[in-house]
Amino acid sequence: MPTLPQRVSVPMFAARKAKRLPLVVVTAYDAPQGRLADAAGVDAILVGDSVGMTTLGYDSTLPVTLDDMLLHTRAVARGQAALPIGEKPSEASVVRGAHHALLIADLPFGSYGASVEDGVRAGMRLIAHGGAQAVKLEGAGPLMRETTRRLVDVGVPVMGHLGMTPQSLHRFGGFKVQGKSDTAADALFADAHAMAEAGMFAVVLEVIPAALAQRVTDALPIPTIGIGAGAGCDGQVQVLHDLLGFDEGAPYKHTRRYANIGATIQAAIAAYAADVRACRFPTSDNAF
Ligand code: KIV
Repeated sequence: MPTLPQRVSVPMFAARKAKRLPLVVVTAYDAPQGRLADAAGVDAILVGDSVGMTTLGYDSTLPVTLDDMLLHTRAVARGQAALPIGEKPSEASVVRGAHHALLIADLPFGSYGASVEDGVRAGMRLIAHGGAQAVKLEGAGPLMRETTRRLVDVGVPVMGHLGMTPQSLHRFGGFKVQGKSDTAADALFADAHAMAEAGMFAVVLEVIPAALAQRVTDALPIPTIGIGAGAGCDGQVQVLHDLLGFDEGAPYKHTRRYANIGATIQAAIAAYAADVRACRFPTSDNAF
């Protein structure tokens, strides 16, 4: 029986920082994406509230509900456990179909900002009914810190998120680089420490100057996971759809496109349509 790869756990995040081994995180929103991301060997899968923009057609993350997050988190968790379509379980496939990556789910806007109790209940639901092993919340104010302490107390690991936090889009007046002034940089540095003290196991730093991310990373006892925060972070997170090239437009500065899946999908659907119209599909091979 082949040895099962050890599932990434929350304590392993700290160990990776200590050994300076970069952590790899990617978002996923459904079962096939969960299966493929897990099989690709990432350390953690984030079911981000970016599902609102990548999958649900919203222009921000704000309309995403806790029910949306539960639905998508469950799907990714099922995908992590699934075998490739048509494959029968064998010893080798058991290894491939095993959950490997830590599964983290976003607490969506509106599920934790009004009271600590709301946030604690929402976090517990994502663990108990979503299949997540950790949750992520944005910001570092007193409410977020208390919510974190209470969640950690009941066994829910919490990841933080600072910088260009998309749920504060309206306060920022758009998707803009954060932490540019000395005052803003010092505030973010203090927030990162407050989050670590509240018990968070890691913090996402989104779209901030690379030098600030490096300063936070060097000083913080917990791992930093960057997106648009330079190479100095302890790990990187990217939105799956940005990596795969679902959109035809120019890629964002903070991402790199590893495929052009949008163009591939459109061409495949157009080829199917052309075959049906020209009576090339189905053929006798496809008939019963
Ligand atoms: O929702 C999300 O995808 C995120 C990442 C960009 C960190 O929060």
